[in-house]
Amino acid sequence: MNHFYGKSFLKETDFSAAELNYLIDFAIHLKSLKKQHITHQYLAGKNIALLFEKSSTRTRSAFTVAANDLGAHPEFLGKNDIQFGNKESVADTAKVLGSMFDGIEFRGFKQKTVSDLAEYGGVPVWNGLTDDWHPTQMIADFMTLKEKFGSLKGLTLTYVGDGRNNVANSLLVTGAILGVNVHIGAPSNLQPTAPILEIAKKKAAQSGAKLLITDDPEAAVEGADALYTDVWVSMGEDVDYDKRIKQLLPYQINNDLLHKTGKKESIVLHCLPAFHDTKTTIGSKLLDAHKLDALEITDDVFQSKQSVVFREAANRMHAIKSIMAVTLGNLFIPESLFD
Ligand code: CP
Ligand code: NVA
Repeated sequence: MNHFYGKSFLKETDFSAAELNYLIDFAIHLKSLKKQHITHQYLAGKNIALLFEKSSTRTRSAFTVAANDLGAHPEFLGKNDIQFGNKESVADTAKVLGSMFDGIEFRGFKQKTVSDLAEYGGVPVWNGLTDDWHPTQMIADFMTLKEKFGSLKGLTLTYVGDGRNNVANSLLVTGAILGVNVHIGAPSNLQPTAPILEIAKKKAAQSGAKLLITDDPEAAVEGADALYTDVWVSMGEDVDYDKRIKQLLPYQINNDLLHKTGKKESIVLHCLPAFHDTKTTIGSKLLDAHKLDALEITDDVFQSKQSVVFREAANRMHAIKSIMAVTLGNLFIPESLFD
């Protein structure tokens, strides 16, 4: 059986640099197969459950299309469709789903839920986002960086905004594992927590990545090959939006901040969805109230040539396909790659 067979994908720290690099490279390979219309049905006949406690456009679509391309059948189970958590425990649900499905995706609140699903389900479980981590997003993001720059080691990625949300946590530790320098620009109360920073520092000491956590947005972006931001309030957060907006406005990705990287070729990423214009109901209300045109990223930067946000979104499907194929498919993967 291959190196990944039967494993779950719950958080990045469970994987080595060689393993994450393999997943990224295999995603790039699968993208090329799809472009050439070469079939890759590594999961023919398998059934996959897609559990969503929180809403999603990209992750749900990516899992659905990736499963279909791999020859598997995906089944969406939304939070109101099943008893999960309300009338039935996570463990019981996991046992039932694991007896019928070959793999389970979960998006929701607690990291413990996804790890319990893996513990009791007996089949591979994939984390489609929790409050703590967004690991499938990382394979797509670092894949996008690799496509753009050719290699990862030594690149500098700056994340500005809410520096202690799931995406920031994941970028910090994944960069640290892969040898990508990660800068986080965020106000002190929104910087990575001590346990996350501790993990990242350990990983960085092994890979040679340099980490910088600062409340100075200009210092954070200096020398960055890539700028990254995310929404200022994440799903499930109960915070005062107005206070958060005032606090994070200095960390908005706009042309001014982009120029301060000092590099002409810096690219811009965002996991999406983004408040870059007034064309959403929530966004337009907030922007109106604060007399702003955009929140975490301005529309001109979002639409600019330097922005790779839609390539990044498209790569979610190839990344998720890579993860599902190797953990559930019987592929030949030489063990020597991971010595
Ligand atoms: N980036 C991301 O996870 O998007 P969705 O919330 O639409 O799945
Ligand atoms: N931090 C965001 C990511 C969305 C993909 C959230 O959790 O809402």
